[in-house]
Amino acid sequence: GSLKARAAARGMLAGCAVNAELFRQDEKFRNLLAEQYSILVPENCLKWNILRPTPDTYSFTDADSLVAFAETHGMKVRGHNFVWHEALPKWFASTVTKENARKFLVDHITTVGGRYKGKIHSWDVVNEAIWMKDGRADGMRSSSPWFEMLGPEYIDIAFRTAREVDPKALLTYNEYGIEYDTEEEGRKRVATLALLRRMKAANVPLDALGIQSHLHADGKTDFGKGIHELMDGARALGLQVFVTEMDVNDDKVTSDDIAQRDQIVADVYHDYLTTALRGPEVKAVLTWGASDRNTWLNHGTKFRPLHPDRLQRPLPFDVDYAPKKAFFAMRDSF
Ligand code: XIL
Repeated sequence: GSLKARAAARGMLAGCAVNAELFRQDEKFRNLLAEQYSILVPENCLKWNILRPTPDTYSFTDADSLVAFAETHGMKVRGHNFVWHEALPKWFASTVTKENARKFLVDHITTVGGRYKGKIHSWDVVNEAIWMKDGRADGMRSSSPWFEMLGPEYIDIAFRTAREVDPKALLTYNEYGIEYDTEEEGRKRVATLALLRRMKAANVPLDALGIQSHLHADGKTDFGKGIHELMDGARALGLQVFVTEMDVNDDKVTSDDIAQRDQIVADVYHDYLTTALRGPEVKAVLTWGASDRNTWLNHGTKFRPLHPDRLQRPLPFDVDYAPKKAFFAMRDSF
């Protein structure tokens, strides 16, 4: 059985992030997507830096073809994302000011959300707004240009605009570094849940929490407490939960034996997902990529592998699209 079939049997969706270049060039990859998944999310092509080459132009080609592909194959699409402190175009810093920031934000969401209105399962309206290292008691990432220009209200503006533009899309707050039972992630988790409570109390339209779930295979597989805190918090606020960007960084695994490495990665998939999926709030599980052929952990600028001669194997399918142990662990967790 496929990931999507096993997920559907539990009333859930199985998905992955799609890299536009691979999608364009590789029919085998497109076939894998159609065969295995019920929901897709573009890895980069809905981000400001890709979508907005100049302040007045939009470049929708890649996003359009992914949305059309999903429609043809009866798959859903997540939108990622409207607001993030990263992936902003070069012109942004010199063009967007305190005075016009609100207009830029509202226009962006209106244009992009409007184009895909009715076709998006859920939008990551705001991505990664909590960052404890900026030192604020509420944990808000005050170094984000959006916060610098608009204050914490940028979040409310974004969600309210998104609801107006596409009332059927589930509006999601997406965050990372809140999964593990460590002190640091615990503090970030508390701040994230406090933000969601603050939003609900202010009647900001919010439907779901996205837990990115960028995990690492470094021996720690104790997810119980933190995951339960997230599930309890989401349930209390009536939110759905999506695992939005799962992968397992295996850079710290010392063994070079592929079978052994893949087993360690698969064990993290198993432990994490069996814990997370105990919560009936979880409606979708997406990995950040499908195949090790394309993972940001091997290409990303900031996250180059420690051992560049040894590519990472963080995803369910190998570079030739064969299912790995992580695939079976993910499938069996549904
Ligand atoms: C990453 C992409 O995978 C990379 O290709 C890109 O260079 C940087 O962004 N959290 C997120 C995603 O919300 O948007 C990021 O995607 C990975 C971390």
